Amino acid sequence: MPRTEFIATGHHVPERVVANEELAEYWDTSDAWIRARSGIETRRWVEPRGETGSDLALEATRKALDSAGMPASALDCIIYATLSPEHYFPGGGVFLQRKLGVQGIPALDVRNQCSGFLYGLSIADGWIRTGQYRRVLLVGAEVHSLALEYDRPEGRNVGVLFGDGAGAAILGPTEDDSRGVLGVNLFADGRFAELLWVEGVGMRDSPWLTRTHLNEGKHYPRMAGREVFRHAVKLMPEALRALLDTERLGPSDIDLLVAHQANLRINEAVARQLGLDEGQVYNNVQRYGNTTAATIPIALDECVRSARLRRGDLLALVAFGSGFTWGSALVRW
Ligand code: ACO
Repeated sequence: MPRTEFIATGHHVPERVVANEELAEYWDTSDAWIRARSGIETRRWVEPRGETGSDLALEATRKALDSAGMPASALDCIIYATLSPEHYFPGGGVFLQRKLGVQGIPALDVRNQCSGFLYGLSIADGWIRTGQYRRVLLVGAEVHSLALEYDRPEGRNVGVLFGDGAGAAILGPTEDDSRGVLGVNLFADGRFAELLWVEGVGMRDSPWLTRTHLNEGKHYPRMAGREVFRHAVKLMPEALRALLDTERLGPSDIDLLVAHQANLRINEAVARQLGLDEGQVYNNVQRYGNTTAATIPIALDECVRSARLRRGDLLALVAFGSGFTWGSALVRW
């Protein structure tokens, strides 16, 4: 059975840079608080009525296709990970497909929030290894900035953390069994679903959308930050250690760890627990904030383009987010 390799990557973020100081105009917060608690300095936001998630995904995909020297028509399927779809349904995958002009190939949406890219990677890996598809486009794309609670004080809880952007990877089979995706481990624990969620609008309520939902802000994200933090710093290192053990590898074998970018303090704690030094870890949360499913492929593409990630390197990926869902992956680049 072939292994799955990353053929090429790409990313795209909106032009508009939003510094912490600007957020202090919307909420009772400060640059000092945001930097100290999260490490975030800036994030990118789309212009209202500007780029959509699938527009961002399209640009990221074009860059990946350029790097691969491949036309869009060579793609066999699309996996589109997002928590911020443009429409309630259909998912974003078909809009990206339409923009790419590749009618007919399957387009699957993955709704696993910050773990979306790893869940998508696991699906892509299965399809490629079994020969179902040979060229899989895996995209993470998010527009958070349009769904933040600017008009309420509690909006600061998540509002200061989120950014917009998209990252793409083109995956395919390699016959070189010393390279490629070594393994992906996925986890979920729905007991904690309410600790980070959008309570409405959904089909649990009848009627499913009323003025009360809007008045009570049920369409905005809510997060129990400390609880999420506590679980993230425990479960991310555990998920990675388990996979390293399976592969008979250790943390010292890792050339590059790209963890989900929610909070620099979380990633520093993860690195500390695994005994990794700074040179083994890449973070860009300072510049982009948390772009959820787009986070890992954006960081990955930056590492590829800056030669921070080179052929033969052992790449570790780990993510944690709403659900709770989390996971890890190891890739011999
Ligand atoms: N600006 C200023 N003050 C604030 C802000 C803000 N934006 N937010 C909260 N505060 C205040 C609180 O009210 C509190 O005040 P008090 O001490 O008077 O009660 C104080 O700051 C400390 O608040 P905490 O919530 O305890 O701060 P903490 O150090 O935990 O940091 C943070 C908050 C950054 C949200 C952190 O908990 C975190 O990063 N959590 C995890 C986020 C995460 O990993 N999410 C998962 C991925 S997202 C996804 O899946 C969609």
